[in-house]
Amino acid sequence: MESKFRFIKALKRQAVDSTPVWMMRQAGRYLPEYRAVREKMGGFLAMCKTPEVACQITLQPLKRFDLDAAIIFSDILTIPDAMGLGLKFQTNEGPYFENPVRTAADINNLVLPDMEQDLGYVMQAVRLVAHELKDKAPLIGFCGSPWTVATYMVEGKSSKQFSVIKAMMYQESALLSALLDKITKASCHYLHAQIAAGVNAVMVFDTWGGILANDCYQPFSLHYMNQIVQYLKSQPQTKDTPILLFTKNGGQYLEKIAQTGCDAIGIDWTVDIKKAKAQVGQSVALQGNLDPCVLYANPKVIEAEVKKIMQVFGQSPGHIFNLGHGIYPDINPEHVQAMIAAVRKYSALQRGNEHEP
Ligand code: CP3
Repeated sequence: MESKFRFIKALKRQAVDSTPVWMMRQAGRYLPEYRAVREKMGGFLAMCKTPEVACQITLQPLKRFDLDAAIIFSDILTIPDAMGLGLKFQTNEGPYFENPVRTAADINNLVLPDMEQDLGYVMQAVRLVAHELKDKAPLIGFCGSPWTVATYMVEGKSSKQFSVIKAMMYQESALLSALLDKITKASCHYLHAQIAAGVNAVMVFDTWGGILANDCYQPFSLHYMNQIVQYLKSQPQTKDTPILLFTKNGGQYLEKIAQTGCDAIGIDWTVDIKKAKAQVGQSVALQGNLDPCVLYANPKVIEAEVKKIMQVFGQSPGHIFNLGHGIYPDINPEHVQAMIAAVRKYSALQRGNEHEP
């Protein structure tokens, strides 16, 4: 059955009336209405864990902008939090875990979370948003890639060098594999539960796959994302839900990523989208890939940069316009408006619905 949503159609490489557009981190600190709620709630995690608030925040960017998808307001670190690692977010410091995972005993002791008991707040937020959106826009569910989630669990916080987890990878790879297996199992059940609760597509964020040595990317990151894809494609309730994989700095692995059988690949701005399109053909859709820093420039520049990306696809199907990574907190929301207007303008021009003056 054909979806009524442009975003879902584009994921399936079907023709659309206008290129779908949304932004990673579209609900966030660049929006004054987000900052107001955050102030009241006293922190990010409290917002995630209060379904009514998570629902409200998810919908904020759609109230302001002409976006083609909502993404559930949550985080990739909800799984390790549910495993008992003691997640904290300090203002401007990023996440940290009170109990990082370092030893065989630490890994053995990790208990797989129960999706309703431990992560029910996410499912409840999904149900609320799905109910609010009805057929207005599709809702995206997500998780982190097992490798990316493991970097936070082992390092205990954000990292530049990833020394602890990489030492574990090279010296005690069986230990790391055991950890990645557990995160993968939890992620499969997590995405399955999100789909059952009402999301229309799922995305796996592999923010740190691109920091792996070339011969480590497949065994330590892609291998586990592939297992997630295979699981979801094998289950009756999830087999038709489109799956997007995004490895930041993963431009050199596009063919391998496409071979998982995912529906779409997210690309960052270091990738030549024209070459990427030629590489993957119609096997997957592509999502991206405007440099988020373009949004610091004026609307004229923004339009010119959007045009460059839009020209690559023209009328051919399988493109979802997005940034190459999440939007930054100090972006002027009016510049987002300019980006979306430019996507609409060139979509119409390319389809012959409008002529450039
Ligand atoms: O895209 C969306 O709008 C949906 C919500 C979303 C958040 N995090 C909300 C968030 C999504 C999809 C994520 C994914 C996520 N979380 C990733 C992968 C994508 C990426 O951006 O690379 C990662 C690595 C995390 C872990 C995480 N969460 C970090 C490192 C940080 C701190 C950095 C930062 O931007 O402050 C967070 C916090 C976080 N997650 C915020 C939001 C809106 C900021 C919270 C705040 O201070 O208000």
